[in-house]
Amino acid sequence: MTETPFRVGVLGAGDIAQAAHFPAARKSQEVELYAICDAADDLRERMVTVHQPTTSFSDYDKMLGDENVDAVVVAVADQFHVPLAIRALDAGKHVLVEKPMGVAVEEAEELVAAQKRNDRILLVGHEKRYDPGIAFAHDFIKEEIGELIGLKHWYCDSTYRYKVTDTIRPLIEHSAAPRRPAGDPKANRQRYNVLGHGGHLLDTARYLGGPIAALRARLSRKADSYCWFIDAEYENGRMGQFDLTLAVRMDWWEGFQVYGGQGSVIGKVHNPWYLKAADVQAFSVKDEMFHQPIGADANVFRLQLEDLAQAARTGATPRGATALDGLASVRGMVALARSVDSGDWVRLADVEGAV
Ligand SMILES: NC(=O)c1ccc[n+]([C@@H]2O[C@H](COP(=O)([O-])OP(=O)(O)OC[C@H]3O[C@@H](n4cnc5c(N)ncnc54)[C@H](O)[C@@H]3O)[C@@H](O)[C@H]2O)c1
Repeated sequence: MTETPFRVGVLGAGDIAQAAHFPAARKSQEVELYAICDAADDLRERMVTVHQPTTSFSDYDKMLGDENVDAVVVAVADQFHVPLAIRALDAGKHVLVEKPMGVAVEEAEELVAAQKRNDRILLVGHEKRYDPGIAFAHDFIKEEIGELIGLKHWYCDSTYRYKVTDTIRPLIEHSAAPRRPAGDPKANRQRYNVLGHGGHLLDTARYLGGPIAALRARLSRKADSYCWFIDAEYENGRMGQFDLTLAVRMDWWEGFQVYGGQGSVIGKVHNPWYLKAADVQAFSVKDEMFHQPIGADANVFRLQLEDLAQAARTGATPRGATALDGLASVRGMVALARSVDSGDWVRLADVEGAV
């Protein structure tokens, strides 16, 4: 551990905190799991026993009032992200807010304003940016392959996903009474899939290809699946084609192909819970060679917290998704939903309302 660790308080002791943020903070030499906050006493007490933070809270405002907390991880239901992240920023904390940053354009804009007003670092949990394969692809695309011609991205969850994740993730503990939004967010599966998965696809597509101007999407609802085929127009005129399918009858299937004037980059991305770097091959016409990183340290959730700590401490530009990136993802998800309704191209700059 560094002499003055970056102290993190995690709000929410549910699934993502247990599988990602608690172990990530504990494994880091830079970040300390200082506090756990959850209104559900049974779950919080259990997690305090397992992860031994310095302190714990049932009341979020009490955690925000603790001056030792440098940053808050907002790991609660989507609908709570924006108001709770704004409260943390207004209390002077840096923030990592889980994805999606928000569920509607207007509230995402409010969070962008709160981040600017408070001049704190805010990152959004689009952790794929820390996959060393994807990070390598990003840098290679920028530096080596010249003008981009076209990009393809696919993100297809697997019907076998839970068999795999139950095998590789820690056993998740549940509260008898977790604090959750009214109603069942999973009741509308179409919307839930866009919020839960679409944001990851769009963020990786933007990370590798730049800002997206417009989308046109079609949705197939066959065989109890949701399959979106999406045409994309990037702001710089680059052409994109995306596939978001929940779920395919095979293994997790995620990846990209990026064609440039001076090279190409292709990648196969693994189920995130393997913490295994994407298999990336990057070809450059300069040396007529394929380049392939090993990406040994692919603990994306730990790298994400350390990126937050470094950006907060040194002012370094984070690799992670900023508030503006989070807003762009929300706009992309809304555009996707609107385009399915209208059958037309939808410009991201024009969308309003909720996903
Ligand atoms: N980055 C990823 O790949 C990834 C993967 C899975 C989930 N997620 C996101 O993580 C978020 C959390 O999901 P989850 O399944 O862990 O949620 P969850 O509902 O299982 O857990 C949230 C916990 O927060 C507590 N809580 C909520 N509001 C609170 C408040 N105001 N004060 C104190 N405690 C409060 C609840 O009691 C609950 O225990 C979601 O937004 C989800 O989309 C991200």
